[in-house]
Amino acid sequence: MSWNFEEIRQKALQEIFAITEANELESLRVKYLGRKGLIAQIFSSLTSLSDDQRPLVGKNTNELRNEITQFIEEKKKEIQQLKEKGDAQESLDITIPGVAVELGHQHILIQTMDEICGIFENLGFAVYEGPEIETEFNNFTALNIPVDHPSRDAFDTFYLKVEDPTNKGRYLLLRSHTSPSQIRIMQEFTPPLAVVVPGKVYRPDAVDASHSFMFHQIEGLLVDQGIKFSDLKGLLSIFCKRLFGENIKMRFRPHFFPFTEPSAEVDISCYICEGKGCSVCGRKGWLEIMGCGMVHPKVFQHVGYPKGKYTGLAFGMGVERMAMLKYGINDIRIFFENDLRFLRQF
Ligand code: PHE
Repeated sequence: MSWNFEEIRQKALQEIFAITEANELESLRVKYLGRKGLIAQIFSSLTSLSDDQRPLVGKNTNELRNEITQFIEEKKKEIQQLKEKGDAQESLDITIPGVAVELGHQHILIQTMDEICGIFENLGFAVYEGPEIETEFNNFTALNIPVDHPSRDAFDTFYLKVEDPTNKGRYLLLRSHTSPSQIRIMQEFTPPLAVVVPGKVYRPDAVDASHSFMFHQIEGLLVDQGIKFSDLKGLLSIFCKRLFGENIKMRFRPHFFPFTEPSAEVDISCYICEGKGCSVCGRKGWLEIMGCGMVHPKVFQHVGYPKGKYTGLAFGMGVERMAMLKYGINDIRIFFENDLRFLRQF
């Protein structure tokens, strides 16, 4: 049998060169250098050669074996090095960008509440929170809202099937405004006091672009001796400028609330048309932002303050409405739909 050493050498080189895995290299080593491998076969065939052929073929076989051994060794090193490099890259590659942790942020309504409360805190007000479940007494009676007032109707207030443990009313209810907190504050503290109350309120309104059965209000209450209506107007005009900008105009419109006398509704000049009249302000040039007034003497009477000793101012605003005006949002429902495309804008 004759062997084409050059052909074998070329083929072995090619095969070894193409290898990428250590286990494949091992099977090639077995194929060429193993006990029953090609080199071993060539060696065992030497016996059939003539005496003068044998030394040359033997020498060529030895050379071929050494060469293949060397190829395999080199390839082994190469694979090892690649693996080490790969391992190192996997465990420590300081050039790979870090995995960004997405930070959440406060809901636009919370941001708006914080901003509004912050303005009043800077003016010396404290922040107080009252419960969402209230008594009829705090939500209506103590606020001088008569028994036959339509807001007491079950169509306008969510009553709970829980009897009022104070016996000053029949059932507990979900507060329909933050004003009952005025009662709690005045029962707990003696003037002078200046407090804002942010929180949720509930009304059984059909949901549409401007109504929601739950929304947020911020109540304000300032009571001391000698507080005047001009204090109310001055305070709210500072507030409007701080929230909506120095150029905003504010006006008071006479209104009625049972728990304040006199009462007013507060308008700001429309931020879109600057008072000229447009579709946002309904061509009026003004936007209503809150209710306010001087605390009614009957309210002081209900909380047990001495007759005639104190005067006070109170105001209440809707947080959704403020955010809608400030950011040009035209549908209240979008605050509560958890649509991140909306929420991420703020
Ligand atoms: N509670 C009133 C409302 O919900 C707002 C208000 C608060 C008015 C305080 C006057 C004083 O409409």
